[in-house]
Amino acid sequence: MTTSPPPTIDLGLGDPAHPMPSVVSATLRQMADRPSLGYAPPGGLPALRRTLAEKLTAVNGLDATAREVVVTNGASQGIAAALAELCRPGDRVLVPEPGYPAYRAVCRSLGLTVTGYGVPAGDDTAAQPDWDALARSAAGATAVLWNFPSNPTGRTADPAWYPRLYAVLREHPALTVVSDEVYEDLCFGTRHVSPAARAGDLAARFVSVFSFSKGYAMTGMRVGYVHAPGPDLATRVARRHYAWSMSTPTLSQVCALAVARGARDYPAGHRAALMSGRDRLVAGLRASGLSVATPEAGCFAWADVSASGLDAEAWSRAAAVRLRVLTAPGTEFAPHDTRHVRLSFAVGPAELDAALERVSAWAADGWRPAASARPAEVAR
Ligand SMILES: Cc1ncc(COP(=O)(O)O)c(C=O)c1O
Repeated sequence: MTTSPPPTIDLGLGDPAHPMPSVVSATLRQMADRPSLGYAPPGGLPALRRTLAEKLTAVNGLDATAREVVVTNGASQGIAAALAELCRPGDRVLVPEPGYPAYRAVCRSLGLTVTGYGVPAGDDTAAQPDWDALARSAAGATAVLWNFPSNPTGRTADPAWYPRLYAVLREHPALTVVSDEVYEDLCFGTRHVSPAARAGDLAARFVSVFSFSKGYAMTGMRVGYVHAPGPDLATRVARRHYAWSMSTPTLSQVCALAVARGARDYPAGHRAALMSGRDRLVAGLRASGLSVATPEAGCFAWADVSASGLDAEAWSRAAAVRLRVLTAPGTEFAPHDTRHVRLSFAVGPAELDAALERVSAWAADGWRPAASARPAEVAR
């Protein structure tokens, strides 16, 4: 008799297992009886833009108007559309290292070149972004992608850093910051502070990008939004968005509006669930002998797997093949990072415990790697 293999556990993606705000299902039920939906305007439903401008002003301190807000297909499209409007093919963009892999992918698809700058990734809570590298490579660059709370490190930004960022902008007047703040609602100890909020006369040099995906567990709805201050950048971003996809789905925007108006307290519960996942994951990995800093935000742990004797790719591959646990190796986030593996703690507790049991058994077996196959060959 053959036994079937245990189910694959996906710790490779940051797709929250937490249920969406209940107002989303209520809205979907109401919308089900509508005979038709129609396109939304390219910039987004006016009521949603207004509500988001109010949120950006009250919560993020950005002094936003509805005209400066563009609703996009997730933060992903907002970042891409902003870069497409800010840069010309051949321009150079500075990206965090380690950083969210889509930044490099988007730049590649827009014909932009990238230069990495280091961001804090380990246990040292006093560590800061590599300001010298940032200042050095800013000459001749068009945009800098800034991402705190960070994917993959789970580190938050200390607002005390911001004057250093503003100094780089003053020194390089052609540079714009695209600030990706999709994890703003998932800070476990501190409150997120938008860098544009304290930038004074430099605020117009920040395009700030947000999302319903992470804080509200609405990844599949695909609703993000861009704040592009000033008279015309938001209009250009909306036109770009129109050229690429017409508009963000009306149904998703109606749900996002219901959430923005009626579920502002939802992230607190989501954070509590994530914190318990974080604590389980960090404790489990440490018990298996791996070194991992406690994430301050988000849904990922950035574990140093070098104690296993394997490099990150080999560890990740063996975890996929041997344990049927999917993870993401460091090289996806920084070209030369062979020590770290990113693991999501956004899955439910039972799955997380099962994954950790498998890791622990593997550690007890001396981290023996498995044969050939690559992680992608294991079915999700
Ligand atoms: C840092 C970061 N930015 C943007 C995104 C994409 O967000 P959205 O679902 O809003 O497109 C992700 C998704 O994982 C992310 O980690």
